[in-house]
Amino acid sequence: MQWKNRTYCGDVSGKQAGAAVVLMGWVDAIRDHGNLLFIHLRDIRGIVQVVFNPQTGADLYLEATRLKEEYVVEIEGVVHLREPGTENPNLATGRVEVFASRLRLFARSRTLPFQISEKAMVFGEELKSSPESVDEELRLQYRYLDLRRPTVQARFVKRYQIIRSIRDFLDERGFVEIETPFLTRSTPEGARDFLVPSRTHQGKFYALPQSPQLFKQLLMVGGMDRYFQIARCFRDEDLRPNRQPEFTQLDLEASFIDEEFIYEMLEELTCRIFAVGGIDLPRPFPRMTYAEAMSRYGSDRPDLRFDMAFEDLTDLFEGTGYAIFRRIRDEGGLIKGFCVKGAADLLSKNILQNEYALKLVPAFGGKGMTWMKVAGGRLESNIVQFFSPEEQAGLVARFQAGEGDVLMLIADTDRDLAHKVLASLRLHVAQRLDRIPQDRFRPLWVTDFPLFEWKEGRLSSQHHPFTMPDRTEFDPRDVEGCLQLNSRAYDLVMNGEELGGGSIRIHDMAVQRKIFEALELSPEEAEGKFGFFLNALEFGAPPHAGLALGLDRVIAMILKEPNIREIIAFPKNRSAFCPLTRAPAGVDPLQLEELGIGLTGAGGDTKDSTAARPSKAAVRSERISAAEVRHVARLARLRIDDTEVRAFQKDLNAVLEHFEALQELDTRDVEPMSHVLDLKNVWREDVPREGKEIEPLLQNAPMREADYFKVPKILEG
Ligand code: AMO
Repeated sequence: MQWKNRTYCGDVSGKQAGAAVVLMGWVDAIRDHGNLLFIHLRDIRGIVQVVFNPQTGADLYLEATRLKEEYVVEIEGVVHLREPGTENPNLATGRVEVFASRLRLFARSRTLPFQISEKAMVFGEELKSSPESVDEELRLQYRYLDLRRPTVQARFVKRYQIIRSIRDFLDERGFVEIETPFLTRSTPEGARDFLVPSRTHQGKFYALPQSPQLFKQLLMVGGMDRYFQIARCFRDEDLRPNRQPEFTQLDLEASFIDEEFIYEMLEELTCRIFAVGGIDLPRPFPRMTYAEAMSRYGSDRPDLRFDMAFEDLTDLFEGTGYAIFRRIRDEGGLIKGFCVKGAADLLSKNILQNEYALKLVPAFGGKGMTWMKVAGGRLESNIVQFFSPEEQAGLVARFQAGEGDVLMLIADTDRDLAHKVLASLRLHVAQRLDRIPQDRFRPLWVTDFPLFEWKEGRLSSQHHPFTMPDRTEFDPRDVEGCLQLNSRAYDLVMNGEELGGGSIRIHDMAVQRKIFEALELSPEEAEGKFGFFLNALEFGAPPHAGLALGLDRVIAMILKEPNIREIIAFPKNRSAFCPLTRAPAGVDPLQLEELGIGLTGAGGDTKDSTAARPSKAAVRSERISAAEVRHVARLARLRIDDTEVRAFQKDLNAVLEHFEALQELDTRDVEPMSHVLDLKNVWREDVPREGKEIEPLLQNAPMREADYFKVPKILEG
């Protein structure tokens, strides 16, 4: 192997004109002109054109004609500057080509399941195919082929560069990278655990860590002072585009620090890693309390790329003549809204009333919406006459509304619901009017979260139970009082996405005990769950704090990929399944026996259900058979030939498969959509057009009744 002399394809340049090079890589594309054969050779650094000339090497040319896409070769040759006019501006190496003098075939390739080459050989057509144009399931099944695409490779190179810059930065700041166990006990992050059965301790299970939370705190108790880890975390939860069952965190913790240390350091770090992707973040990162975020944007991760913040209008409508507002106000409800600048022409009365007020807002869970436009210096809407001139003036002043602005108001006795509906509405309108600048990045610290929330009839930690409250002298039995406590927790939010979160931790056992008491966790339960950790707190824990950044989310945002699967080398699909390895899979009954595990119910079949599975096509044709299609056709009095039977069979099975896939979709948090247009059933009362007689129109009817064209009945009753 000539690895010492190797030149990477993407590194060949005009400077090497006249020099001999050895290239190794994959055949990206081939074009045979008869008198000359060109191939694009590709490796991790790029593509270069290689020329085989039958005039100068007939045997070599013949060998080259046998090459196919994705064959792996070594080529020796001499670098030449291309003839003027034949340069390829779409290739970084487009000014040169390599005249081949030797070819060595390392490996052939089977026919590809999808096209890998992204570059066209011809001018002006840069991207021949893109990863997005191929079915994702197929891409994941053949991820090693998908990875050969330059755009996909580039993402992983960038991912590596970002992670390397994180390591460099933390190293500068005195942090030490330490690994924590994968085989451990349940960690309190609130999702379901992935369990691993123990063979040596039958009937016992390890849990894969949902995060290294307890271990990093133990490292602080152990005096390690500043720890970090690029940590794999495992959470068995419903998947979304920004969630995977295993994902990577930048997890860190430091001793003898406070919030300001975290804010300062994370701002610097975040700016550095976004700069690796060429993104300059605005500094300093603003801070907003949870209460303000909820009140102004109805969300604890507000998207600040656009404004449309909410204004509380409840005070403007004291004693109002508008009955709905008066009742909601009297019942302690909320009247709130936002202003959409200059949108009057884009949001017609029909859209505001029939689409938003009558359909979309109810779909978001709201009872209705009040809208107004500023037109001709006055407010205009279907109900504006119910508002006094003072109320109208108050609204205009509160929003500083100007000509052409649209006001959207929600009133509800349920204040949380009003915020939730407004938040959905704000996002919907911004998306519809294209008011979310895609190239803008708006980081934000959200702080002062409530320490507890009320869940299923008891207090529950909003973050995790080791988060320091803002006050330590509280009565754990006073539920109302506990619900007033804030935590010293912070989230790093960007463009409406939670990138990371952390907190100041409790280092005092007495406070920790009070938290467990508030959570109604008995000393025995607490001991059973985290006894090892609580013990440690009794041996002199330093004040400490930390945070974890969801690295997959951060990297996806830097690379402007909407889906974290794109920046994970071997991700699971939407149903937490790996199409490449077909995991999860059944196991050998012997393995279960060794573990002392017996399966019951559907899982009782220990055969590898996926390995033994027939191909997708076989499953399909089994579901609805040709005989069933023929039977239905007979019932419908349809005569269909074999080709049509096969076509119907395929279509019906595709429908079934689609429905099966729908059942796997988690649509709980998906906002309902509504139709822009009213859908109505219309009965056409056709009358022949003037000058047209009925008779000529019906002259071809095989059967008729009165003035109608009669068609045969399909089903006989
Ligand atoms: P938290 O649970 O907020 O905090 O997680 C930190 C960050 O991890 C990312 N994240 C995920 N990314 C992809 N897929 C998932 N399923 C997933 N779940 C979470 C998010 C999130 O902000 N131990 C604490 C941190 C601490 O207190 O120091 C923790 O794990 O970007």
